[in-house]
Amino acid sequence: MNPLPRHDHYIAGEWTAPADGGYFASVNPATAEPWYEAARGTAADVDRAVGAARAAFEDPRWRDLSQTRRGRLLRNLGDLIGEHAERLARTESLDNGKLLREMRAQLARLPEYFHYYAGLADKIQGEVIPGASRELLNYTLREPVGVVGAITPWNSPLLLTTTKLAPALAAGNTVVVKPSEHTSASLLALAPLFEEAGFPPGVVNVVTGYGPEAGAPLTEHPGVSKVTFTGSSATGRRIARTCADRLIGCTLELGGKSPNIIFPDADLGSAAMGVIAGIFAAAGQTCVAGSRVLVHQEVYDEVLERVTARAATIRIGDPLEETTELGPLAIAEQLEKVESYVELGRAEGGKVVCGGGRPETGLDGYFYSPTVFTGTDNGMRICQEEIFGPVATVMPFGSEEEALAIANDSAYGLAAGVWTRDVNRVHRMAARLEAGTVWANTYRSMSPMSPRAGFKTSGMGTEHGTEVIREYTRLKSVWVNTSEEPAGDPFILRS
Ligand code: NAI
Ligand code: MG
Repeated sequence: MNPLPRHDHYIAGEWTAPADGGYFASVNPATAEPWYEAARGTAADVDRAVGAARAAFEDPRWRDLSQTRRGRLLRNLGDLIGEHAERLARTESLDNGKLLREMRAQLARLPEYFHYYAGLADKIQGEVIPGASRELLNYTLREPVGVVGAITPWNSPLLLTTTKLAPALAAGNTVVVKPSEHTSASLLALAPLFEEAGFPPGVVNVVTGYGPEAGAPLTEHPGVSKVTFTGSSATGRRIARTCADRLIGCTLELGGKSPNIIFPDADLGSAAMGVIAGIFAAAGQTCVAGSRVLVHQEVYDEVLERVTARAATIRIGDPLEETTELGPLAIAEQLEKVESYVELGRAEGGKVVCGGGRPETGLDGYFYSPTVFTGTDNGMRICQEEIFGPVATVMPFGSEEEALAIANDSAYGLAAGVWTRDVNRVHRMAARLEAGTVWANTYRSMSPMSPRAGFKTSGMGTEHGTEVIREYTRLKSVWVNTSEEPAGDPFILRS
C-alpha cells in the first residue's frame, strides 16, 4: 500500500516539519478510510508559529503597509480563492463529507468575504474627541492587537476560518490558525495562496494537531494577544478561562439549539422546506441548526406530514455525487453521539416518526438517516443539548406567548426562525426572541455584511459585518498639547 500523503505545518511561508516528528491521519467520512496525514503539532510548533507571527507583526513590510494596500492583498486572496475554488471545494468535501454541491456554492461566495474586508481595511479609523480646552487635541488610534490565535471546527473549515482571518488581517494583525484535527486539508490547500496574494511570510501561519496538544498551547502562549474560536461550548468555556487568566480578549462562536417556529398563517410548503433546510442540510452539523421545530397546534399534523414525507425521500450517499442531498457525519465520534442521543430521546419518551437509524448506502462511511421526534417536551435533554446531527424534535404550541416561552427556554441563543405572513408578528417575535440571529420566512441566510453573535451560552462577541473590527483592534487615546503658553500648576489635573 502506498503511504498516505503527508502535510507539514505552514510557518513563516515554509512547510515546516513538526518539532517532535509526529503525524496523525485524517479520515474521509464517506468511506471511513484515512486519506492523508497532517503534522501533530505540539507546544514547540506553536511557539515557532507564534514567533513567526510576532516577527511578521513587527516587520515593516506588514506593519508599515498602508491600509489600502493591506486591503489589496485581501482582494488578491479572494480572487485566488475564486480561481482555486473547485480544488478547495473538493478537498473539504473529502475531509468532512459536506456535499460537493454545497461546497461549490460556499466557495463561490467565499471571495466575497475577503472582498468585503478588503474594502473595509482602509475605513478603519480613529476619531477626534472634543476636549475641555481648545489647546488639547485628543484623538484615538484604532490599532491591531498583535498576534491572533484562531481555532476552528470541522463543520465548515474554510468559511469559519475566513470569518476570522479576513477581519483580523484587515485590521493589521498577524494570525496563527489551528484547524480542527479532523479537517486540516482545505486550509493546508489554501496556505500557499497567502503568499501568492502578497502577504509577507509569517502573516498567516497554520499549525495542525489536536486540541489539547496544539490548540491549548496557542491560547496559553504569551505572544498571542487575542483568541478567536468556533466550536463546542465546553471547549469555548475552557478557552475563555485561559484568556481570563491571561487577561486577553476572546471571541467565541459556540453551539445552539435553535427554534424554528411555524405559525398557522405561514406558507406551510415553504415553512416545511425551511425546517428541512434548518436541520437536514449539512446533516444538521451547523451551529445554527433549527433542531427544535415548534409548530402551532392548528397546523401541527400538516407540517409534520410535509416534513416527514420530504425527509423520507432525502437522497443519502456519496457527497461527491451531484444528486446526493445528505452526506455522512463528519467524524466517527459524531455518529456515536447522534446514535446515543436518539437512544436517549427514546428512553426519555420521545417517539421516532422518521429515520432513527443508519441508512443502507453501500458505503462504509458515517451515515445517519434524517430523524424526526415527536412527543418530546422542551425540558428533555434531546431538546436542551446540542446534538449536531440530522435530528429534529417537533413540538406543538398554542399561542405566540407559549411559542416564545418554549423558544427562549434554552441555555443557548444563537438563532431562531419564524414562519408567518403577519409582518407585525415578525417584528414582535424578533424583538423578544433571545437569539443573535432571527430569520423570518427563511433559514440559514448569511452574508459577510450581517453581524452574527451568539447570545447566552452560544458565544461572546460578534463575527461578520463592520462591528467585528472592534474584536481585532485596540483603541488608543492620544493627547497633544498645542498651547504655546507656559505649563500651568502641576498639581492640578488638566482637562
Ligand atoms: P471542539 O469544540 O472540541 O473542537 C473545536 C476546535 O477546538 C478544534 O480545532 C479542536 O482541536 C480545538 N480544541 C479542542 N480542545 C481544545 C483546547 N483544550 N484548547 C484549545 N483548543 C481546543 O469540538 P469537537 O470535539 O470537534 O466536537 C465536539 C462537539 O462540539 C460536537 O459534537 C458538536 O456538538 C460541537 N461542535 C459545535 C460546533 C459549532 O459550530 N457550534 C462546531 C464543531 C463542533
Ligand atoms: Mg477528515
